[in-house]
Amino acid sequence: MKSKFKRILYGGDYNPNQWPEEIWAEDMRIFRDAHINSATINVFSWAKIQPSENVYDFSCLDKMIDMLSRENYDIVLATSTAALPAWMVKKYPEVMSTDYEGRQHHFGQRHNACPNSLVYQKYAKALTAKLVERYGDNPHITYWHINNEYGAECYCDNCKKAFHVWLKDKYKTIHAVNTAWNMEFWGHTIYDWDEIVVPNALGEGIGKEKTAFSGISIDYRRFISDSLLSNYKMERDVIRAKQPHALITTNLMGTFKGLDYFKWAKEMDIVSWDNYPAYDTPWSQVAMTHDLMRGLKNEPFMLMEQTPSQQNWQKYNSLKRPGQMRAQSYQTLAHGADTIQFFQLRRSVGGCEKFHGAIIAHAGTENTRVFRETAQLGSELESFGNKTLGSANPSRVGIIFDWDNYWALEYTSGPSEDLKYVEQIHNYYKFFYNKNISVDMIPVDADFSQYNLIAAPVLYMVKDNMAEELESFVANGGTLITSFMSGIVDQSDNVHLGGYPGPLRSMAGVWVEEIDALAPEQKNHARFTDGTTASCGLLCDLMHLEGAEALAVYEDDFYQGMPVVTRNHFGKGNVYYVGSQLDETGLEKVLTQAVADAGVTPVIPEATQLEVTVRESETTRFYYVMNFTGEAQPLPDSLAGKTDLITGETAKCGDSLKPWDVLLLTEMIH
Ligand code: GLA
Ligand code: ZN
Repeated sequence: MKSKFKRILYGGDYNPNQWPEEIWAEDMRIFRDAHINSATINVFSWAKIQPSENVYDFSCLDKMIDMLSRENYDIVLATSTAALPAWMVKKYPEVMSTDYEGRQHHFGQRHNACPNSLVYQKYAKALTAKLVERYGDNPHITYWHINNEYGAECYCDNCKKAFHVWLKDKYKTIHAVNTAWNMEFWGHTIYDWDEIVVPNALGEGIGKEKTAFSGISIDYRRFISDSLLSNYKMERDVIRAKQPHALITTNLMGTFKGLDYFKWAKEMDIVSWDNYPAYDTPWSQVAMTHDLMRGLKNEPFMLMEQTPSQQNWQKYNSLKRPGQMRAQSYQTLAHGADTIQFFQLRRSVGGCEKFHGAIIAHAGTENTRVFRETAQLGSELESFGNKTLGSANPSRVGIIFDWDNYWALEYTSGPSEDLKYVEQIHNYYKFFYNKNISVDMIPVDADFSQYNLIAAPVLYMVKDNMAEELESFVANGGTLITSFMSGIVDQSDNVHLGGYPGPLRSMAGVWVEEIDALAPEQKNHARFTDGTTASCGLLCDLMHLEGAEALAVYEDDFYQGMPVVTRNHFGKGNVYYVGSQLDETGLEKVLTQAVADAGVTPVIPEATQLEVTVRESETTRFYYVMNFTGEAQPLPDSLAGKTDLITGETAKCGDSLKPWDVLLLTEMIH
C-alpha cells in the first residue's frame, strides 16, 4: 500500500500562542534535539484569530506558521472550531448546546456548540474558508485537523427541528415512525411530526443511558452522529475546494460511543485518533482499539495524540514508567499507525491541563527523563526513513464491531445492567491477542470472504442482509463465533419474532428459549464433553439443539444438562454459539477449537508472553516484539536470526527482553 506520508510524523499539539515569543526559538532548538518534525497547531484559537464578529487577526498564527515552515515541519493545521469564542455566545446564546437534562449551557468549556445551530455553522465555515485561503498554498501544510474530538450532544429546540427533518427523510410517513418505534406500547402513538420530542432525561430517558423507547434513542444517536458529521463535511469541503490534495482528518477517540466511526471514516482522508489508556487498561484493550482505528478504513492511521508521560483528567494520573512511552509507541506502530504525535509539546502554565504531560515540562529544559525518552524515540523513528510506512497488518480473523449494536445493546432495558459492549468484544479479542493471532476489527458490511474466522459476540442487532452475508460466509467454509444476546432485534430494536437467535437460528442450529441473568455473585458452570469445567455467568441462555452439537452443558440450577456451548456444521463451515459468559479458560477452550477448525495460525509458532505483531510491506515483514509483562521474557527461537531495524543487530537464540523492551525484527519477503 502506498503511504500517505513521506516520513513518520513525530510531534504533536503545540500552542506557542499561549507563550511569549521569546520562548519560541528556544522551543525549536529543544525540539530539534528530539527529532520533532511535525506540529499540530491552532486547535483552540478561535477567540484569538477572530476577536469579534467581523474582525480576523492572523498575525500570531502567521508567525507560528512561518517559524514552523522554516524548520521544515509537517504542519497539521487545525480549524479551531471546537471551542466557541465568548463574544459569539454572548450575542447568539443558541450556539451553545443543551444537555441531556435539558439545560442550555452558558459560555464555558469546549466541544460546546449545537451542531444544528445555523450561526455556529456559518461562522465555522467562514473561519475555515479564511484559514484555507490564507494558508492553503503553504507546502508545509498538507494535513488538516478539523475541529477536535467531535462528540458533543445537544437536545435543544434547533436539534429537535432538525431531528424531524432527519426522520422525515428516513421514514417518509408518520405511520412508518410509529411502526419503527413500536409506539402502540404505552400508547405513545403520534399523529404529527412536531409531536416528536428529543429522547433525553425530560423525555424517554431512564437514568443516564437506558430508555423507555430505545428505538427513538438509537435514531437520535444516529441523528447526532450525522449532524456532527455534516459539520465535519462542511469544513472539509471548504478545504478541499482550495486544496484538493490535502489530507483531512479529525481526531477520533477509539471505542467512543457517541459517533458511528465506520460511517465517519468514509468521509475522512485518513483516520487519526487519541490514545489515552488509564494505568490499569489492559494492553490487549489498547491493541484492540488501535486495530479498530485501523479497521475503520482498513489502512494505516495517525496517532494524533498520546501523552509523553502523565495525564490530568483521569482518576489516577500515573507517570509512564521509564521505557513505557517508547514501548507504547511501538505498539501503536505495530497495529497500523504511521505517525506518533503527542499532546503536547510544551506543558501549559494554567487551566485544567497544566498537569498534563508534555515534551517540555514546566522546568523549561531538555534535562528531563521525559525529554530524553522522547528524543531517543525520535531518533529511532527518524532512522527508519520511510521503510515501514504504509505497510499492512495481514489478518485472517475479523471481529465485528458495530456502533448501532453498541447503542442498542446498552440502551435497551434488561436483561442485565452489567452487559457492556466493548467489554464483551474485548473478552474475545484478548484470546487472539494472547496467542499473537492478528485480528481485523471489521464493520457489519465488511467483505467477510477475506477471513477464515469471524467473531461476532453479542451481535444483538441483526440488520437487513446481515444474516444472509454471514450464512454465505459460513456455507463457503468460514467459521463464525457468536454468543448470547445475538440475533435478537432488527435495526429499530424490535425483536425478530419466532424464537432467539432470530435470523441466526438456522445457521447456529439452536433455539434459545429463555435468558437468565445472574448477579455478579452468582455463577453457573459449563461442563465440556472432555469432563473439564469452567465457570460462567452474567447471562445464561436456556437453549435447545436444532442440529448443533453440545460442546458443553450447564452443571447447576434448573437448567442443568442443557447446552451452553454448541457447534453447528453449516454448509462447508461451522458456527459456534457461546450461550453464557465463560471464564477466561472456558472461552479459551472454545476459541482454541474454533481457531483449529478455521486453520488460523499465530504470527509465530511458539507460545510467548511477549506481544508479537506483524506488518508487511511489499518487500519486508516487520515483527514488532514488545514486552508488556513486567518480567524478562525469552525471545522465541523462531525470531532468532532476524535483524533489528532499531539497533541493526541480529537477534540470537537465548536473548531476552526486559520489561518495556522492544525489537523491530525484519525479514525479506520473497
Ligand atoms: C484530548 C484533546 C486534547 C487534550 C487532551 C488531554 O485528547 O484532544 O486537546 O485535551 O485530550 O489529554
Ligand atoms: Zn442543538
